[in-house]
Amino acid sequence: MKPGNKPDPFTAKAHKEGFAARSVYKLEEIDRRVKLTRPGLRVLDLGAAPGSWTQYLATKVGPRGLVVALDLNPLRVAVPKHVRAAELDILACPLTAIAEHGPFDAVVSDMAPHTSGVREADAARSEELVERAMLIADATLTKGGTFIAKIFQGEGFEALRAALRERYETVKILKPDASRKESTEIYLAGLSRKHAPKLPDAPTGPVG
Ligand SMILES: C[S@@+](CC[C@H](N)C(=O)[O-])C[C@H]1O[C@@H](n2cnc3c(N)ncnc32)[C@H](O)[C@@H]1O
Repeated sequence: MKPGNKPDPFTAKAHKEGFAARSVYKLEEIDRRVKLTRPGLRVLDLGAAPGSWTQYLATKVGPRGLVVALDLNPLRVAVPKHVRAAELDILACPLTAIAEHGPFDAVVSDMAPHTSGVREADAARSEELVERAMLIADATLTKGGTFIAKIFQGEGFEALRAALRERYETVKILKPDASRKESTEIYLAGLSRKHAPKLPDAPTGPVG
């Protein structure tokens, strides 16, 4: 911490409670507000490293559930047997490779690009990750299931929100208390998926 900066209460709390990151309190609030988790659920956790969401989800779904945790980087925490973790690039990985772990009752994405400081460019890369997460949910999320994705708000935000409205009965925008006020990040929640999971007819490889 830089001298003069205020200690962040969420970072201190995460450290004390043994979580890998302060992000866990964003998910905790989202869960409180949209009733995301319950024992026995199967959850896909995209952008899972260092692992605080995975830790939280693993506890909430319990050993009868499943958490599949995917990221470019390895998790930095020990996880129980009902967590399957893999290192992969969500943008380059075929949908079929992810779908073979499904179906899921919830798909959550906390993915974030490396930020450049150029707001429009960072938002565009975040939107690309959300779009990919949405297509993964199309292929793997059960009817009635829940989709959550972090997005840096930019020009493509409204189009993504509209795409989610086509797919989910209810779409909400959430800004948890643990999300820094100065950050453009918010969370899109798609509640109660309208359709059953389906892989696209044409083979879908890497995006772009
Ligand atoms: C804010 S961190 C996630 C924190 C995590 N939810 C936690 O609680 O520990 C964002 C993550 O998105 C991942 N990410 C970004 N682009 C990705 C991609 N193309 N494929 C997989 N993971 C990606 C990053 O590697 C990074 O670990």
